[in-house]
Amino acid sequence: MLTREENDMLTQTGRGTPMGELFRRFWMPACLSEEIPSADCPPVRVKLLGENLVAFRDSNGTPALVDAYCPHRGAPLFFGRNEECGIRCVYHGWKFDASGACVDMPNTPEGETYKDKVTLTAYPCFDAAGMVWAYLGPKDRTPPRPGFDWMDLPDDRTYVRKYHLRCNFFQALEGDYDPSHGMFLHMTRDLTTPSAIQDAAPVLGSLLSDKGFLKMKFLSFEETDFGMLHVGVMPEADGTQTVSASTFYFPCFSSAGLAGPGVYSSNMRIPIDDESCYMYRFRWSYEPFTEHQRNQDRFGGFTYPEQIPGTFMAVENKDNDYLVDRILQKNYSYTGIKSFPIQDLALVEDQWGPRADRSREHLVTADEQLMRVRRRLLKAARELQEGQEPAGPHNPEGFRAHTARTRMPANLPATEVIDRIKDLTVGPPPDSRLHTI
Ligand code: FES
Ligand SMILES: [Fe+2]
Repeated sequence: MLTREENDMLTQTGRGTPMGELFRRFWMPACLSEEIPSADCPPVRVKLLGENLVAFRDSNGTPALVDAYCPHRGAPLFFGRNEECGIRCVYHGWKFDASGACVDMPNTPEGETYKDKVTLTAYPCFDAAGMVWAYLGPKDRTPPRPGFDWMDLPDDRTYVRKYHLRCNFFQALEGDYDPSHGMFLHMTRDLTTPSAIQDAAPVLGSLLSDKGFLKMKFLSFEETDFGMLHVGVMPEADGTQTVSASTFYFPCFSSAGLAGPGVYSSNMRIPIDDESCYMYRFRWSYEPFTEHQRNQDRFGGFTYPEQIPGTFMAVENKDNDYLVDRILQKNYSYTGIKSFPIQDLALVEDQWGPRADRSREHLVTADEQLMRVRRRLLKAARELQEGQEPAGPHNPEGFRAHTARTRMPANLPATEVIDRIKDLTVGPPPDSRLHTI
């Protein structure tokens, strides 16, 4: 539970708010690279942290992210002409380059000199991992590119799709730090035949205690420059233990999510405004994806839900109750909702509305992980409010840590367990079969 003030601080990211300023210290995806596919392509609307913007690619192919409105008299630049290294407002012809400089003011005699006094707000950006990354903070604090191992991987090792979510970014993100929900909400393994149910029983059984509680326990919640590193252990029937490390990266990146052996996951919930966000559902690997892996993601509909053509909205969405199937729910699955991520969406898009009032909650020990993440983020926002800049953006190497999972003997001291799993959070896994995520 949070106070109303803490809840507001956690969930409001407009310019000038404490969390909004923290977000404006980090690079974050503004759109998919394919949304502005080529030099001089049509501009697209982008809303980010409550700011109305327009993205385009200039004649050199450089991505640009600028204010959605022309500084002359506020006309929408979405209708602008993207030509000869700049975007030209079609109301009176003023033209701006990717850096926001006014390079032409053809409708008035003083244009030749007055244009030097006018600028369009423009944010620096670059392409990486299929996304256009932007920085909306103070120019003199522009950080280096984040050092995620996957930032510069070739295209055949990354996969990303973007979804429009109708809730606050943190509401969506919290689901990734909520280990007890998986055994309820996502009980949709392949339980469509009696033999599949039988096959699944030993797996599900090993995760749960006799009373049905999740057996996983956390050994540590370490605060790092990049955010947090959590280490959890789960006893196994053969006397060993499964040890896993998971990460929270400032300001809104998590690494939760099922993926195949040797495939890592990164979920990014980027605020559009305080009641909606984009989720970039990203998968990556140190090895090229097989065609099979790619096709599974793309066409199955279970891990990458189908979208309404021409939008980033899933076909199963709030307007149609996520196509919940009550017969399916009675007989086979816990929710009756088909797609894995949509099961989450159905619950998180409406927790007392799109921006939950956390002062009304009744939290329990099973909620410890998300409480820790809240506190970490609030602490960083408060520190910045008091003038202490976050260290993370200027320590890009820190972002290299990723999730890890392995088996260890059960009798190891906790410090050794933590040291060993931390070693596995950087670089390729020694054996991808043992380090499935
Ligand atoms: S409003 Fe854009 S040039 Fe006049
Ligand atoms: Fe979930």
